[in-house]
Amino acid sequence: MPDTTTTHDWANDNLQSLQSHILAEEQTHPEATGDFSWILSAIALATKSIANKVRRARIDDVLGEFGETNTHGEAQQKLDLIANDIIKACLGARANIGVLVSEEDEEPMVLRTHAEGGRYAVLFDPLDGSSNIDFSVGVGTIFSILRLEDGHAAKGVDAILHHGARQVAAGYVLFGSSTVFVLTTGNGVNMFVLDQSIGAFVLVESKLQIPTQSRIYSINEANIDSFPDAYRSYLEWAHASNYTSRYIGSMVADVHRTLLKGGVFIYPPTESHPDGKLRLMYEANPMAMIIEEAGGRAIGNHGRILEVEPDSLHQRSVVVMGSPDEVGHVERFLNS
Ligand code: AHG
Ligand code: MN
Ligand code: MN
Repeated sequence: MPDTTTTHDWANDNLQSLQSHILAEEQTHPEATGDFSWILSAIALATKSIANKVRRARIDDVLGEFGETNTHGEAQQKLDLIANDIIKACLGARANIGVLVSEEDEEPMVLRTHAEGGRYAVLFDPLDGSSNIDFSVGVGTIFSILRLEDGHAAKGVDAILHHGARQVAAGYVLFGSSTVFVLTTGNGVNMFVLDQSIGAFVLVESKLQIPTQSRIYSINEANIDSFPDAYRSYLEWAHASNYTSRYIGSMVADVHRTLLKGGVFIYPPTESHPDGKLRLMYEANPMAMIIEEAGGRAIGNHGRILEVEPDSLHQRSVVVMGSPDEVGHVERFLNS
């Protein structure tokens, strides 16, 4: 019989799962009623399934375009729709969700009114960076959770059009070399990795802090001729200041690298997207909450992203987010 009195750590696996972490978090929020863990566990289930579909896409022959465009006139990849359906199936079954908003659907999916128990709206980009899927580059799911006010008639889009500081939770799941779940419920940023051997997301980092500075900028320089002068002046300064450039073309991957290594991720106004390309409600806002909760900054066309009062569900935003010092360098040129 092994001597179990020694100091050997027999249970040497990391067993702090997403599920146990959420329940522990709930203990610190007396008003929490278990609603949250119900929604987050549905997102965890959905993203495990999507991760599997993404990793098997070439085997199952579901790569490439679906042949239609979404509300933004963008060609939909088959996996955009598969991911969209999986998330709606998993979240739709949760009794406390009133409304679902997807990048892939023009109209919100109204599940139940407040009176019928609909307490939350979940807004999501089911598959971000989907143009990169065919060559196994990191893609992911981004989500934002808003509380629905008492008495809202779920029908009204304006029950959902709240500024980003009203989010009660935000996060993303990156399907990269590992499947990483990054989450904030307003109490710091925690990171989990999917342990395939037990099928659970396990906690790997708590209270993540973004480096305050790092000479990395992330921008699609192919559009440089249509950037406003301030961005071009910033890039000239960065080139002369020994910066390096990293651009994957999937926001979820570029922001995740920025969160861990520092730097600044920028999607400026361009000729084809004068208000920026990224969508406020389910790309810019959730990522801005994560970055700010990790000690970073996130600004758009009109100051802090999380303070932008949305006019429409699918409106776009300029994005400049990352290390506080690095956003400050860009801001200096924007303000000059
Ligand atoms: P999506 O795949 O959800 O449409 O998002 C793509 C976005 C974002 O992931 C990325 O940062 C940006 O498109 C890249 O745009 P460019 O190819 O214009 O650089
Ligand atoms: Mn996206
Ligand atoms: Mn998408």
